[in-house]
Amino acid sequence: MTQESTAVRAKAQGCPFSNTDYNQDAAVYGHYEQLEADRQQGQFVFNDTTERGFYMVQGFDDVVAALNNKNFTNDVTSALNPDRKESSTFYPQELDGDVHTKFRRVLNPYFSPVAVRRLDEFALPRLREMIGEIKRNGSVNFVEDFAIKFPAEVFLHLLGLPHTDVDFFLRDSEIMLNSLFNGDRDAGAAANKRLLAYFDIAVAERRDNPGDPKTDFLTRVMDADIDGRPMTHDEVLAVCLSVTLAGLDTTRSALGYVFYYLANHDELRHELTENPAMIPHAIEEFIRMNPLVFQAGREAQSQQDFRGLDVEAGDVMWLGMASANRDPNKYPEPEKFVLDREGINAHVGFGGGPHRCLGRHLARHELRMVLEEWHKQIPNYRVSNADEVVERGGQLTLKSMKLDVLE
Ligand code: HEM
Repeated sequence: MTQESTAVRAKAQGCPFSNTDYNQDAAVYGHYEQLEADRQQGQFVFNDTTERGFYMVQGFDDVVAALNNKNFTNDVTSALNPDRKESSTFYPQELDGDVHTKFRRVLNPYFSPVAVRRLDEFALPRLREMIGEIKRNGSVNFVEDFAIKFPAEVFLHLLGLPHTDVDFFLRDSEIMLNSLFNGDRDAGAAANKRLLAYFDIAVAERRDNPGDPKTDFLTRVMDADIDGRPMTHDEVLAVCLSVTLAGLDTTRSALGYVFYYLANHDELRHELTENPAMIPHAIEEFIRMNPLVFQAGREAQSQQDFRGLDVEAGDVMWLGMASANRDPNKYPEPEKFVLDREGINAHVGFGGGPHRCLGRHLARHELRMVLEEWHKQIPNYRVSNADEVVERGGQLTLKSMKLDVLE
């Protein structure tokens, strides 16, 4: 479906238009300002900055309804890049209905709140060591040298892969991610190929030497029963690629926003240092206030009146989680950080419905560990390159942030 024909229908039903290109970088928090401007335009907005265009669903109740709407499928997973599927396959993201449920049943227990605690034995000593080194050095390039490295090492440990592969993983997942958000597509395809080749070998090795499917991720995925058959080799690789890309960038990005905010808000930082029991509340409020996955894409499969919007088969939908989390009807004074905010657990920073984030307990656990351990050793710090900190478009992250350790 062309943008032109969708735009004509959007206009005919009085839908306001937006020409904000959300793939572009902005100053820190700049995307939230753009989103607010679009939210003020009306309940639904048609954005014409991509080849197919997309309807922006923005209010909290509308976004929750869209996340649970069976007519909106994951044939599109990003409104900004709807035809991405041509270049690589991600499971379970790209599945729908019963098959999706079957894949999630295999994966969910491995990422449950109890299961992610098994990481502590490796993660805690490693984290203390990394923070100790930062303290001794007196400063850190937070994004590149800490916020991505720690989750990447934890992730490799989780998958039972050698920690020495961390640099390879970081380089290629970064290239791939950038290619998804407006970057070099050929470089992205090459990185995709290298990552698949890596998993290809790792999976073959594990077939020869299987582990315990309860604790070993690759063995668990290879042994999985999907409709009375094992996962195919390609399906196993699609799952591995998916958890790699979904898991690394997001945790890094969340850490960036959390530490940027805390470095600039002494009172809250002191409160969390003195009262670490409040850290889990703070994490939820951070994810509500700065939902880095600001949208999920979907594709309508048939004509539907969606809460007053007339949608046709093939329309691309933008499910605006960031706009929903900042909907003042749901969260009064949404731009404010409120540590004990009412109804905080309902936020959609981790999505909702059947595709709700698989790694949310892992992400929460990692964020909690970092906030606790960091503030025990480094209670005071500041951003030393504030003028240079930029926010990536497509899916939010702070591109570079340096922190100085203070007395
Ligand atoms: C703060 C960190 C994170 C945030 C904010 C986040 C956010 C999200 C969101 C909003 C979705 C839903 C997308 C949609 O509906 O299309 C999602 C899905 C997903 N996330 Fe996360 N995520 C985070 C960390 C992680 C981690 C650590 C993993 C590692 C396993 C992970 C794996 C996934 C997967 C596999 C999906 C797809 C689930 C499905 O389609 O069934 N995420 N995430």
